Amino acid sequence: MADQDDATLGFATRMSHHGRAGARVHGFVNPPVHRGSTVLFPDCESRKAAGKQRYEQVLTYGTAGGPTHHMLEDMIAEIEGGTRALIVGTGLAAVMVPLLAYLKAGDHCLMPDSVYGPARNLADGLMAGFRIETTYYDPLVDEAATRALIRPNTKVVYTESPGSHTFEVQDIPAIARAAHAAGAKVLMDNTWGFHNFQPFAHGVDVSIQALTKYAGGHSDILLGSVAVNTPEDWSIVKGAASQLGQFASPDDCWLCLRGLRTLPVRLKAQAENGLEVARWLEGRPEVLRLLHPALPSHPQHALYARDFAGACSLFGVVLQPRYSDADAEAVVDALSLFGIGASWGGYESLALPTAPSITRTATDPHDFGGPIIRLHIGLEDTADLIADLAQALDRLPR
Ligand SMILES: Cc1ncc(COP(=O)(O)O)c(C=O)c1O
Repeated sequence: MADQDDATLGFATRMSHHGRAGARVHGFVNPPVHRGSTVLFPDCESRKAAGKQRYEQVLTYGTAGGPTHHMLEDMIAEIEGGTRALIVGTGLAAVMVPLLAYLKAGDHCLMPDSVYGPARNLADGLMAGFRIETTYYDPLVDEAATRALIRPNTKVVYTESPGSHTFEVQDIPAIARAAHAAGAKVLMDNTWGFHNFQPFAHGVDVSIQALTKYAGGHSDILLGSVAVNTPEDWSIVKGAASQLGQFASPDDCWLCLRGLRTLPVRLKAQAENGLEVARWLEGRPEVLRLLHPALPSHPQHALYARDFAGACSLFGVVLQPRYSDADAEAVVDALSLFGIGASWGGYESLALPTAPSITRTATDPHDFGGPIIRLHIGLEDTADLIADLAQALDRLPR
């Protein structure tokens, strides 16, 4: 077994070797699943001693996590380039925990207008009820514009790059400079970037991942992670998660560990498939433009090229303005190899008309020029996917 902490090893090597050595049993390659609620101690003294280290990877009670959680925590911290990571039950829980950890009544939060919809629901729902005010901002703000949005009570600048459904790439280092100058924390939903965007090297304090997506990779688990890079931030997010009773199924953690072993090849293949399909779509007369940060035609391609080491296979297709939202739905309905459903990151392709899913209050949702279809490209043969898309687009009125 390779030294787990050898940072000179490549990503695929680390994904193959990390999170195994400490848990080898009877010579099997993979660790077992540890399920459990009660943890038994030999005596009261050792139970008290374990309780004093409750934020460490010490077994105290099931809700504090077991060995399967801890192995996945270490893997995610490694991928994100942070020091610690917390595993929670869903990606949305990973959004919620740090927001509620860093914000209290009377505080102000900044959220990009392109934020994942359920995060907006949280801000407008429970957070507003707790008297936490949220301002939605244009995701394309620079440092000066971020500074202008910050108030004395702004405690969190939330980011998500690229944005959900519309794929705006944010200038995270510039936003982080403005936030840190005012003493605010920078939270980022890094699910799209995964290991291709190193959050802590770009000024992020708390990185959120929906492990449900590529990490799980098979559309059969729900999990989230919250990664941090300082002991102070660890105490804050871990403390909030335990107050909120956050827990993840060890079976899902185990499946996620298994998914991570093949993630480097899956993600690379899917990213390549995605780019091939996107390039083909760019040449179609029914298409106005692609919302894919790795394409040179993307308005923030330069920021993407500066900050990201690669893409995933989720992007948007904007149809010509002469088409309606109903036309976009007809295209999606006509596809036979693309499933119609939420989420992404599995091995299978998905398509979703975007219009019903997006809310914009700080920017104009019509700025994109036409109806948008979000595509997630899986591991199928691209020739088949392209043929399927061609027959669906051919049905549109000329
Ligand atoms: C960008 C982003 N963040 C977070 C989530 C939430 O993940 P989960 O479905 O695991 O709650 C999603 C889900 O689609 C997402 O797209």
